[in-house]
Amino acid sequence: MAEEKKGIGFGENAGSGTDGLTVPAHVAMILDGNGRWAKKRGLPRQMGHKKGCETLEEMIEICAEMGIRYLTVYAFSTENWRRPQDEVGALMQLFRYYAKRLLKRAKKSNVRVKMIGEKRRFSPDLIEAIDLLERETKDNTGMTFIFAVNYGARDEITRAVRHMAEDCKAGTLKPEEITEACVSSYLDTAGIPDPDLLIRTSGELRLSNFLLWQLAYSEFYITDCLWPDFNREELLSAIRQYNKRERRFGGVSAAVK
Ligand code: FPP
Repeated sequence: MAEEKKGIGFGENAGSGTDGLTVPAHVAMILDGNGRWAKKRGLPRQMGHKKGCETLEEMIEICAEMGIRYLTVYAFSTENWRRPQDEVGALMQLFRYYAKRLLKRAKKSNVRVKMIGEKRRFSPDLIEAIDLLERETKDNTGMTFIFAVNYGARDEITRAVRHMAEDCKAGTLKPEEITEACVSSYLDTAGIPDPDLLIRTSGELRLSNFLLWQLAYSEFYITDCLWPDFNREELLSAIRQYNKRERRFGGVSAAVK
């Protein structure tokens, strides 16, 4: 049997602050507040995004160390292209730079990296960087880090429906075979369990077109903390809150059964 790769993979969470807590298997995060973080300091918005990328790098390692098995982050939405051109350009530059760093760090930490969203809109070098990240880390056995870029849930569902219609037309899928599991298997997140916990930073109370199908039964944790300031303590607060929730998935409380 092949020797299990070493790394900060799941199950190595001793001392990570989660003792006595159930660690959610899949955490999804909406990274919000980079602009406000920069504004508060009189800095250009780009500086907020740069600090946000540094926070994300740290968070990937912290989540892996805590034993979280899937971390999905909303890094760039299908709507974010509407931002001023210089801001979009700066985000693409950051993406280029951090994709290279992520490759090195993911290999070292045994993290598998996957992208969700529609990558065709990116420049060829970025598409190549994304492909490389996925290819080079596909056999890693630690945490799976999923980054949503040029992602919108309505776009994802629309692409899935179109794909199913094409398969029906080609005769490889029958309409009566379209179950919830079948729909899930056509989404970008096929094979990935739904998130247990959604964290949104900077206090906004909306989903912003993120994982609309997959978050159906997830627990939500909203914090006023701006993304660049998010840290281990903030994540632990979210996990502690998660541990107080009773997940009923539409059923009734165990206490009234
Ligand atoms: C939201 O803050 C954040 C983003 C639009 C991008 C955040 C992504 C990262 C830091 C991860 C790295 C990803 C890439 C693609 C480089 P905001 O600008 O909406 O903040 P505001 O609401 O305070 O203005």
